[in-house]
Amino acid sequence: MVIDWSDGNKSSLYSLWLRDHCQMPESRNLDNGQRLFSVKDLPSNITIEKAYKDAEGNVCVMFQPENHLSVFCQKWLRENCYELNSHFEDRSEKSKKLWKKDSFDNGLPFISYDLMHSDDTSKVLALRSLREYGFFVLNDVPTQDGQVLKVISELGFTRETNYGALFEVRTEVNPNNLAFTNLGLGSHTDNPYRDPVPTVQLLHCLESSTEGGESILVDGFKAASILREESQENFLSLANTWINYRFSDSKTELRSRVPMIDLNDKKEVIKVRYNNRSIDTINVPQDKMRSFYKAYRHWSEIIERDELKIQFKLSEGDLMLFDNTRVMHARTEFSKSGKRHLQGAYSDLDGLYSLLNRLEMKNNND
Ligand SMILES: [Fe+2]
Repeated sequence: MVIDWSDGNKSSLYSLWLRDHCQMPESRNLDNGQRLFSVKDLPSNITIEKAYKDAEGNVCVMFQPENHLSVFCQKWLRENCYELNSHFEDRSEKSKKLWKKDSFDNGLPFISYDLMHSDDTSKVLALRSLREYGFFVLNDVPTQDGQVLKVISELGFTRETNYGALFEVRTEVNPNNLAFTNLGLGSHTDNPYRDPVPTVQLLHCLESSTEGGESILVDGFKAASILREESQENFLSLANTWINYRFSDSKTELRSRVPMIDLNDKKEVIKVRYNNRSIDTINVPQDKMRSFYKAYRHWSEIIERDELKIQFKLSEGDLMLFDNTRVMHARTEFSKSGKRHLQGAYSDLDGLYSLLNRLEMKNNND
């Protein structure tokens, strides 16, 4: 069925797609809009016998051999036409604002917790910043034990792991992770050995009186786009090579096999992973090993370029929240004198984006 819209646009809609998207009460549950049939229930030889506008301007389509009439409102057809609209692109690099060190002329996205906590407009600002830049920092979050979990509960849901609902980041004796020492850490994404990976990380600063220990963030999607510009071959090598990640301690044995760069069906970057500490034995066919290492070294070198890094010190009460599928984080080494204590936790993008979608829909309806 072809629709010539009054604004000059055109939709060509496939007959089986139209029947599958029938909005009538026999096809969809009226309360929740969910589909009541399976695609296999539809005849494979479906055809459109006729299509016409009714008195209200709705588009009526008669399907054969079922003799089934579907009535579509024009607004629905326009909003859902697959040729004119794209859907669910919120993970792709195409829907992001990629950044590097000098991209934040108007300052970094620091937002007052008091405002975010009490006012939907600030919540939308914070969550849009997460969607577009991959991070935001809340200021003046009460420095109470477990506060990071309260912040998550205002935005989405906690992802509990073997580290607990929350984990302490401070210097430990016999640490099971280099994060719990005073050593600097290179840029990385967290937990690539977990599948699915936690898609959001939060770090809440409770105490900060050491020298050093500054936070560094790098836009992994920007780094991937630079890799692609400089060497398409290296970019594809990392997107097409699946490697093993692993984390072990006395109680845990986590393993995954995933690529460092995930692409969608349009070959756009939707996820990056980079963590040199937790790559397991690299198991790549011999004829691909040389090209893999060439790509891996190139990617590592880009990630550590100064022009990509933003650096700032978290003060007491600051809480940094970032997209762990996109933004890499690092920290500089810190002194043994003074105290540095962060509490971290994981959450997931789906819950946070759900809240953002609801708030944006509410704003559009107001
Ligand atoms: Fe980390």
